[in-house]
Amino acid sequence: MTHQDELKKLVGEEAVKFIKDGMVVGLGTGSTVRFMVDALGKRVKDEGLSIVGVPTSERTKKQANDLGIETKGVDEVDHIDLTIDGADQIDPNFQGIKGGGGAHLWEKIVAINSEKNMWIVDESKMADQLGSFPLPLEAIPYGSKQLFKRLEVSGYHPKFRMKNNHYVMTDSNNYIIDLHMNKINNPQEVAENIKEIIKYSSILSSHY
Ligand code: A5P
Repeated sequence: MTHQDELKKLVGEEAVKFIKDGMVVGLGTGSTVRFMVDALGKRVKDEGLSIVGVPTSERTKKQANDLGIETKGVDEVDHIDLTIDGADQIDPNFQGIKGGGGAHLWEKIVAINSEKNMWIVDESKMADQLGSFPLPLEAIPYGSKQLFKRLEVSGYHPKFRMKNNHYVMTDSNNYIIDLHMNKINNPQEVAENIKEIIKYSSILSSHY
């Protein structure tokens, strides 16, 4: 295991200590969360912990179910006590970029419906300034090229996320547009600008 993986495992194991019997828990997506879900599965098995997980991706759902963790969709629960998710980059003011793992929209829906949210990261994710990690947006395919042009004109350096010459598709069959800004001087301002750009476009979700 690499040093970074050891740190991811450590934060994952620490995070599950915040989960109490009877909770409804949002389960994020990504390699850090993977360690957290492993540790949660162990608690369910060893302690008989009774929790319901609300996964933010098909990947996380499968992992949780394979470990014996009961899961429900976000519309099948009446509340979510706590959501634990990874992040891609966090600045000293705890502003962050999330969604790099491609599960952006579900993560955001689960997060906004959760009473508390916890981000778990290893030290490599901390940065003096956001932006060296591309900011992901999730867009429905219809109209996405128009949106792309609008982002380009606004200087956000968008790129459709591709794999083997095909668009990467999310669990909701949407595209991902990564904004390669390199440096984000004022995250709040960028967030507002993007909201303004997406107002008349097909974008579903941007995330800070
Ligand atoms: C949360 O928004 C995720 O999609 C993050 O991008 C992801 O969890 C971070 O993944 P790693 O833990 O694999 O770095």
